[in-house]
Amino acid sequence: MTQLVRLTRSEAETEALGAEIARRVRAPLVLLLDGELGAGKTAFVRGFVQALPGGDAVVVQSPTFALARSYRTLPPVHHLDLYRLEGARGLEELGLAELLDDAAAFSLVEWPGALAPASPFGRVRLRLVDAAPEQRSVEIELPDATNA
Ligand SMILES: Nc1ncnc2c1ncn2[C@@H]1O[C@H](COP(=O)(O)OP(=O)(O)OP(=O)(O)O)[C@@H](O)[C@H]1O
Ligand SMILES: [Mg+2]
Repeated sequence: MTQLVRLTRSEAETEALGAEIARRVRAPLVLLLDGELGAGKTAFVRGFVQALPGGDAVVVQSPTFALARSYRTLPPVHHLDLYRLEGARGLEELGLAELLDDAAAFSLVEWPGALAPASPFGRVRLRLVDAAPEQRSVEIELPDATNA
């Protein structure tokens, strides 16, 4: 397991951190993103996706209502936001479980609480920093098998 701890000072820096991680990992990888509302999970995903081949013009927004979106990058990225998912059973019923099992893709999951994640998976924890509204502390854990 590789662990990184960073402080970002703006949304752009969180996007840049997502881009850096995209360049160091290889698929398949499920990356679980923890952090409260507005912590920067979607910003991280945006940087990650836009750093991949084919991703520079991709629009990345929280798929809160759709629950999942897939981007045709290389490799593809499945972007899930399970905030509105009711129970783990919904994952199967909505066809989301197969996205997580895609052996040729990255899956980045906001609000992953309902998940018993497939392996290998990594984690990104974003935390607000008191007294510094533009700062986030970011802890990243990556399974060694996914290092590019
Ligand atoms: N260092 C930072 N990194 C990321 N976002 C920041 C930072 N500082 C301020 N922000 C602001 O915080 C917000 C982060 O929004 P974002 O949609 O990425 O959060 P989220 O964790 O995906 O929230 P949600 O749980 O609602 O999906 C944006 O408005 C962004 O401008
Ligand atoms: Mg979000």
